[in-house]
Amino acid sequence: MTPLNIVILAAGKGTRMHSNKPKVLHNIGGKPILAHVIDCAKALNPEKIIVVYGYGGETVRETFAQEDIHWVNQAEQLGTGHAVQQAIHYLSDDATSLIMLGDVPLVDVDACKKLIESAQNQLAILSFNKADPTGYGRIVRNNQSVTAIVEHKDATEAQREINEVNTGIMAMPNFHLKNWLSRLSNNNAQGEYYLTDIVELAVKDNVNVTAEITADEWSVTGINSKVDLSQIERVLQTRIAQKLLQQGVTLKDAARLDVRGTLNCGRDVEIDVNCVFEGNVTLGDNVKIAANCVIKNASIAAGTQIAAFTHIDDAQVGENSRIGPYARLRPGTTLAADTHVGNFVELKNAQVDIGSKINHLSYVGDSTVGKNVNIGAGTITCNYDGANKFRTVIEDGAFIGSDSQLIAPVTIGKNATIAAGSTITKNAPADALTFCRAKEQRTVLGWKRPQKIKKSD
Ligand code: UD1
Ligand code: MG
Repeated sequence: MTPLNIVILAAGKGTRMHSNKPKVLHNIGGKPILAHVIDCAKALNPEKIIVVYGYGGETVRETFAQEDIHWVNQAEQLGTGHAVQQAIHYLSDDATSLIMLGDVPLVDVDACKKLIESAQNQLAILSFNKADPTGYGRIVRNNQSVTAIVEHKDATEAQREINEVNTGIMAMPNFHLKNWLSRLSNNNAQGEYYLTDIVELAVKDNVNVTAEITADEWSVTGINSKVDLSQIERVLQTRIAQKLLQQGVTLKDAARLDVRGTLNCGRDVEIDVNCVFEGNVTLGDNVKIAANCVIKNASIAAGTQIAAFTHIDDAQVGENSRIGPYARLRPGTTLAADTHVGNFVELKNAQVDIGSKINHLSYVGDSTVGKNVNIGAGTITCNYDGANKFRTVIEDGAFIGSDSQLIAPVTIGKNATIAAGSTITKNAPADALTFCRAKEQRTVLGWKRPQKIKKSD
């Protein structure tokens, strides 16, 4: 096989998105539309990838600054043929080119592979049968061989009856492509340089043209509006859900799951409705996720249960733990096995060791919590003085009474007990009870609570 050049056309304005953001930067499955196309391109092992971007598309370039891409600016959008002409200097004479569209996120790697294989010595087009082909370029065939692609606006009544249409994705040897590009004209209904005119040029040059029909319409559907964006999002989500089901994951409702990234699941994982997974998430064997959880860049180890309305962001949870409902694990948090984090508990950059419990209404931030620690309701680690962050260390077996404030930097020693309602500013020694609150309880006998005075009306 010859080396592969991939040209991605992404200069279109995207007017119908009604957005200030370039069209190809809108997200599908949590990443830009164009990122899906670039990922597909990379999977094809190309010698180079060239992206043709449009006026105002600097943000597009910046978004993909990490990628090994040649960028070509098409200042004026004079048609798909003109767009490919802009990339001509990057095309290697001995290579095959694959033309892709930057707004088709579900493009299929295998279909592209087949197209490239068949384009080693001919022009190969990916087509599909569209029930309503209005607006598309029609594939004109003479018996089996393709003789032209006629754009809708240029088509005769008879040609408009053709249902087989051009996806816009095609492949061909570069030495032909370069020659054809130099011969394009804009003498047509739209005054554009049509890439599709290369079909007729190929026929003139006695180069064979084939069209491979794909049955997967979504994999060749471009996004032009928010309606398309939302439809394709649902298609992608349905496909992800089906794949998870086929792998043995239990989804209480396959239509109420959103994966905006990668979700890896072990065996016997159960996911209840309305959960959103973002970035890279791993769920171990027997993990159960209750309804309405948002989990981002996290790993949840085997046997752990995440109760409803829990929010996890950049955190790791060990085996057989119980998190939530209404828990919030913020970045840098790691929980070892058998930990319990209950309702309205927020953890940030907290490392909690085996068997520890923080069950109610607490904030534990920038903290190291040992094994088998019990942190009572309403405990706050005061980690921030308005300018600096400090750490709290709670050693193995400590017991923090409810409604305590631990003013960092501070260490609570091994097996120490902090009495409820304490404000701890100094290190608390191991194996001892420390408390810091009003010395004695007072009672005022005969004290009268203020009374509301009745308004006379
Ligand atoms: C094009 C094809 C048509 C096909 C349809 C599939 C041509 C002449 N027509 O139609 O046969 O059925 O796609 O959707 O090729 N683009 C540029 N620069 C330009 C023009 C377009 O980069 O000057 C890019 C767009 O960003 C888009 C792609 O090319 O990603 C297709 O352009 P679009 O205008 O959507 O397609 P049509 O020209 O209508
Ligand atoms: Mg157009």
